[in-house]
Amino acid sequence: MVDILLGLQWGDEGKGKIVDYFAKDYDVIARFQGGPNAGHTLYVGDKKIVLHQIPSGVFHPNTVNLIGNGVVLDPITLKKECDLVASFGIDLKKNLFIAERTHLILPTHRALDKAAELSKGEQKIGSTLKGIGPAYMDKTGRNGLRVGDLLDKNFTTSYIKLRLKHQKLLDNYAFNEDITAWEEEFFEALEFLKQLNIVNGEYFINEQLKAGKRVLAEGAQGTMLDIDFGTFPFVTSSNTISAGVCNGLGIAPQKIRDVIGVTKAYCTRVGGGPFPTELDNATGEELRKVGNEFGATTGRPRRCGWIDLVALNFACMINGVTKIVMTKADVLDAFSELQVCTDYNMNGKISREIPFRLERLKVDPVYKSFPGWNKPSSAAKTEAELPDTMKTYVEFINQYLGVKVHYISNGPGRDQLIRVS
Ligand code: GDP
Ligand code: IMO
Ligand code: MG
Repeated sequence: MVDILLGLQWGDEGKGKIVDYFAKDYDVIARFQGGPNAGHTLYVGDKKIVLHQIPSGVFHPNTVNLIGNGVVLDPITLKKECDLVASFGIDLKKNLFIAERTHLILPTHRALDKAAELSKGEQKIGSTLKGIGPAYMDKTGRNGLRVGDLLDKNFTTSYIKLRLKHQKLLDNYAFNEDITAWEEEFFEALEFLKQLNIVNGEYFINEQLKAGKRVLAEGAQGTMLDIDFGTFPFVTSSNTISAGVCNGLGIAPQKIRDVIGVTKAYCTRVGGGPFPTELDNATGEELRKVGNEFGATTGRPRRCGWIDLVALNFACMINGVTKIVMTKADVLDAFSELQVCTDYNMNGKISREIPFRLERLKVDPVYKSFPGWNKPSSAAKTEAELPDTMKTYVEFINQYLGVKVHYISNGPGRDQLIRVS
């Protein structure tokens, strides 16, 4: 049986914390897409950890973690992260596995990402510059190098061939940064990667399933950043939605049980692109301050706004969400009045659908107002201790979406998650 946990907004919903919390109930945690553009935060004791490549179950010694074929892997980031995780006494030989079909991010992919973004000027995506787009382009363009290729004696020749191709592209962009230091680090990291458990991911996971093991597929980014269904072109380069699990891990759709969608109690976005409920004012500033909304990967300030039920409803539909986890409810403690976007007003046309090319339309969100709870909620341990006004807010969302919030997160800590009925 496979459950999926993924983001319903524009990423950073708190997936890392929730996966870490649920990991004890699973035998395998598997990343199925994305790469080091992800930054998943969790706490081990009082130590804050941000994971980019390794699944968020890694701090549970009895949970196996798989980096699936749908991921793009930066060996340099992976090595640094492995060193960090190992410093907590985690035996990566025992609990980290990497699919041989996983595509590698090369230093020139990072350079190409940077060059492409620079050339876009005002229209830039706001990429994390980790080489994600170029690495996925080489996958679909059938040029990329994969983890399994490392064991091939011709790897270096293939690398040089691809590097030359990339150099020609970089010349077109007039990109002339020196990447020699990145390359040195890259080759060192490849030697490290070769020592890890490289497996045939699709057999690995299906054997686990045959043995009755429970798998949690951990999404990166969020539904509105999906390459097909997100706010294209302001998206990432992978399928972040539940459908991405089948081709990102090699499992059949009928193995999937729950799709757990994570949303903040409000909304954020980092990078460019449309964001109808964005608050470019003091309230947005307050959300950023109270919610500490700064990117876990890039440190950039996140754009903040009210919860958008039009977008959430779309995300529930596309993913087949069966359960919702609402995070950062405590951040709304500070507000006396809350707004929930129920409809989009596009030049007088009221709609509950996400239009094609949202960024080209002027969207005025239609809001329903709710009283805030005006009291601290982060000390609550049970549903009974949560403010009634918070329950009213959540109940409205449940009714609108037709999918229930099953958990409310009221702080970043491991113990700040409340099951609600
Ligand atoms: P992810 O990419 O979806 O894993 O999310 P990030 O780690 O990028 O961002 C979520 C941030 O919110 C992290 O700093 C978490 O520690 C923090 N966080 C998660 N849940 C809560 C919560 O319920 N309340 C508060 N205040 N912070 C939270
Ligand atoms: P997690 O897993 C938030 C955004 C970038 C940019 C766009 C494309 O932590 O939720 P890319 O580097 O993929 O080419 O960037 O997507 N983005 C994210 N935003 N959380 C993420 O991951 C993101 N990963 C990419 O800011 O707008
Ligand atoms: Mg993040």
